[in-house]
Amino acid sequence: MFPDSSTGWALSRYGYEECKATADWLLAQAPVRPLLGVVCGSGLGGLAEMLKDQTAVRYGDVPGFPQSTVDGHAGRLVFGTLKGKPCVCMQGRFHLYEGHPIQKTTMPMRVFKLMGVETVILTNAAGGLNPDFTVGDIMVIKDHINIPGFAGNNPLVGENDKRFGERFPCMSDAYDRGLQRLVHSLAAELDYSGFIQEGVYSALGGPSFETVAECRMLRSLGADAVGMSTVHEVIVARHCGMRVLALSLITNQAVMDYDSEKKANHEEVLQTGQLRAQQMEKLVSGVVSRMELADRRH
Ligand code: HPA
Repeated sequence: MFPDSSTGWALSRYGYEECKATADWLLAQAPVRPLLGVVCGSGLGGLAEMLKDQTAVRYGDVPGFPQSTVDGHAGRLVFGTLKGKPCVCMQGRFHLYEGHPIQKTTMPMRVFKLMGVETVILTNAAGGLNPDFTVGDIMVIKDHINIPGFAGNNPLVGENDKRFGERFPCMSDAYDRGLQRLVHSLAAELDYSGFIQEGVYSALGGPSFETVAECRMLRSLGADAVGMSTVHEVIVARHCGMRVLALSLITNQAVMDYDSEKKANHEEVLQTGQLRAQQMEKLVSGVVSRMELADRRH
C-alpha cells in the first residue's frame, strides 16, 4: 500500500486483514453472531443495556481496536440479542477530533461487516439548525452533508480494497428509506409524532462548537442539524453494503443569532440524552423487532 504516507499508514493498520483478525477475535468471545450493529451516541449508551444475554468487551481489550476518550462514551462492545435478534452495540464511538486518522474512526464498521452485520443503526447527539426543531426532538436522518469530505477528509480516500466495496460508492441512497418509514409509523403508534422530525445532518470535525456564521452557512446549505460524527461511519458502512438507519437526538439549539445568550456545551448534550433516553430506546427496539433480517441461525 502506501507505507510512507499517513493515509497509507492508517490504511495498512485498518485494512482487510487487520479488520478480519479483530472480527474473528470478537466472534470467538461473542455469544451470538450479530446481524445488527448499533452505535450509541453521546449520552445514549443505555441502548446497549436493552440487550439480553449480554457479553461486554472493553475496547482496550480488543486487539487492533481504537480507544474511546470522550466523557459519555463507555468504550465497550456489547453483544446479545435485541427483540430476539443477534446484535452488537458500540457504547462509544471514535471521532476525528480525538486525533484519530479517519480510517481508524470508521474501522468498527468494517469489523461489523466482517462479523456478519447487515444493518447498522447509528445514533448521535446533534445541534438543531432548523428553527422548527426543539431540544429533545429525534430527527430521522434522510441525508447528510459531509463537510470534512469537501476538504478531502473522506474515510475511503486511498487505495480501494474491492473485498469491501467499489471505488466510487453511491451515496444518494445512503439512508434506507424503508427503515425511515418504519420509524415514522412506529413513532405514530407510540404517540411520539410530536417530537419526531426528519432532516439533513451535517458533520464537522469539531471539537469546537460552531460559530454563528458557520451555523447560518450550514442552514443555508440545507442542513437541519449539525454534529461531529456518523457521516464517516455511514460512508464506510454503505461502501461495504450494510443497510443504514441513523437518528439524531437534538440536544441543543445551534446558536444562529449574535444577540443570543445561549452557549453550546457538552453537559447540556449529555443531560438531554438522559431526558430522551427511554423514548430513543423504545423507538430503536421497536424498529429492530419489526425489521426483516436474514434468517440465519446464531
Ligand atoms: N454542534 C456540533 N455537535 C453537536 C452539537 C452542536 O451544537 N450538539 C451535539 N453535538
